[in-house]
Amino acid sequence: MRIVDFFEGKNVFLTGGSGFLGKVLIEKLLRSCPKIGNIYMLLREKKGKSLDSRLEIIKGLPLFDKLKEENPEALKKLIAVKGDVCDLNLGLSDADRKMLIEKVNIIYHTAASVRFDDFLKAALIINVRGTREICKLALELTNISLFVHVSTTYCNTDKKIIEEKIYPAHTDWRDAIKLAEECDENTLNTMTQKYLSPLPNTYTFAKSLAEHVVDDLCKGTIPAIIVRPSVVISTRDDPIAGWNDNFNGPVGLLVAGGKGVLRTVLGNRDATPDYMPVDYVIKGLILATNHYGIKRNINEIEVLNAAQHDIHTVTMGEVVDMGAELIKDCPFNQILWNPRFSMTKCWYNYYIQVLLFHMLPAFILDIVLRLAGRKPMLFTIQRKIYIANNVLFYFMNNSWEFMNDKYIALLDTLQDDDEKTMFTVKIKDWTNEDIFEYFKNGKMGAAKYILKEEFNREKGMRHLTRLWYLDMAVRTIFFSFLFWYLIIKIDVFHVLLRFVQNYISNLN
Ligand SMILES: NC(=O)c1ccc[n+]([C@@H]2O[C@H](COP(=O)([O-])OP(=O)(O)OC[C@H]3O[C@@H](n4cnc5c(N)ncnc54)[C@H](OP(=O)(O)O)[C@@H]3O)[C@@H](O)[C@H]2O)c1
Repeated sequence: MRIVDFFEGKNVFLTGGSGFLGKVLIEKLLRSCPKIGNIYMLLREKKGKSLDSRLEIIKGLPLFDKLKEENPEALKKLIAVKGDVCDLNLGLSDADRKMLIEKVNIIYHTAASVRFDDFLKAALIINVRGTREICKLALELTNISLFVHVSTTYCNTDKKIIEEKIYPAHTDWRDAIKLAEECDENTLNTMTQKYLSPLPNTYTFAKSLAEHVVDDLCKGTIPAIIVRPSVVISTRDDPIAGWNDNFNGPVGLLVAGGKGVLRTVLGNRDATPDYMPVDYVIKGLILATNHYGIKRNINEIEVLNAAQHDIHTVTMGEVVDMGAELIKDCPFNQILWNPRFSMTKCWYNYYIQVLLFHMLPAFILDIVLRLAGRKPMLFTIQRKIYIANNVLFYFMNNSWEFMNDKYIALLDTLQDDDEKTMFTVKIKDWTNEDIFEYFKNGKMGAAKYILKEEFNREKGMRHLTRLWYLDMAVRTIFFSFLFWYLIIKIDVFHVLLRFVQNYISNLN
């Protein structure tokens, strides 16, 4: 069945619709499946913003411009439903719950806390108990076609080769929820490291348990699948190139490096993290919904690794090198200091560089800001970068193989020419130039859509040249001072000579 026909008249319920993946999924469904029913989106009030104003902000994003041009009425199908994944029954009112049970055919569960350094209690409540609550709702739907749980390829990092299947649980998810509900936060924090082992953080641990919630509660009762994306970054081209709403993954490196804020990174140049453009992940998710929604097999929870695996391997070192090339190719208009950044896996080298090139300049520049009557901020930014690098080191130092045969086979199932245009995931055709172009768009997109900066290459180059001279001047002054101090002031050659003479005479 054609995808558009499968979605015709179907109502979708989505958690995490305000998130990175969620927004791209909503846009793609509304634009490419125009006959879809309503999309109900679980939304909470946040930072004093009501549901309506949050919904308007989402609809106003440049991500939705193409949809507004092609089919402005479609956005009326997006309906916010008040709720919170952290609450029992998802915090839904009785009326909303009843409405969802009667109307919804497809559920996408993408809401999660994606912080790697969340406290155990918080991670378990949202990522494990929240998944239980959404499964309970899915089990009650009167006319369910498919429940889609979005997991992550990184939830089994204790293995080197990760297949498209559910691995044995590290603990019973029911016990984990009980622990999170009944144990006080301090006690949980003291036992966290041991409890998570061999997984590296609360996110991967909770997401791995969530897969078991889906498996235990849905298998044998409703059709459900688990889709595991790898590291999801900017759009490739659908609906626009380079769209992003966060600095996760290599995009963060390219931006912070290009701004001159990030000068050194702790990581392994040979590590091969697996990146996927968000529009490719979403197309895969829709293809999987169509495929498994038609099959409606309730006896098996299919798992798909939405990963590149060995189609295109980009090492951390290549990302850093691309970053260096992009500094001149598309320089930012606002740069803190002459950009130059490197990656090392040597802790000593890293710490020395952090102190000299991150913390010390940030400290000095913050004093200058303070003297100028402005708010100091650079030390705080550098502290955040330092913490993020420590949290991410595990992922930037190791490599995994995410087997993706089922996922890739699914991408090849498209027959209809129109649908090929709308849903084809062109990973296999990428050339090295395409990869460079993709990362370039990722950097420019992050600047445009997140930092709200426009690119002006001439202006950027002028600024870059000025900073290069300034950098050279500071280095010249610094090394001249060092030279003067060592050679002239303390006459280091004589000191060394005397030391060697004493040493030789002692030997005699
Ligand atoms: N991004 C990646 O690289 C990546 C890779 C692999 C897998 N994934 C998975 O993909 C899914 C989506 O990730 P993402 O990158 O889109 O995350 P994201 O941008 O951080 O979005 C998280 C979403 O979850 C919602 N949420 C969090 N806590 C909630 C709560 N208590 N109640 C209701 N909603 C809540 C957020 O809503 P608010 O706006 O209200 O906070 C937001 O919509 C996650 O399951 C993640 O594990 C992501």
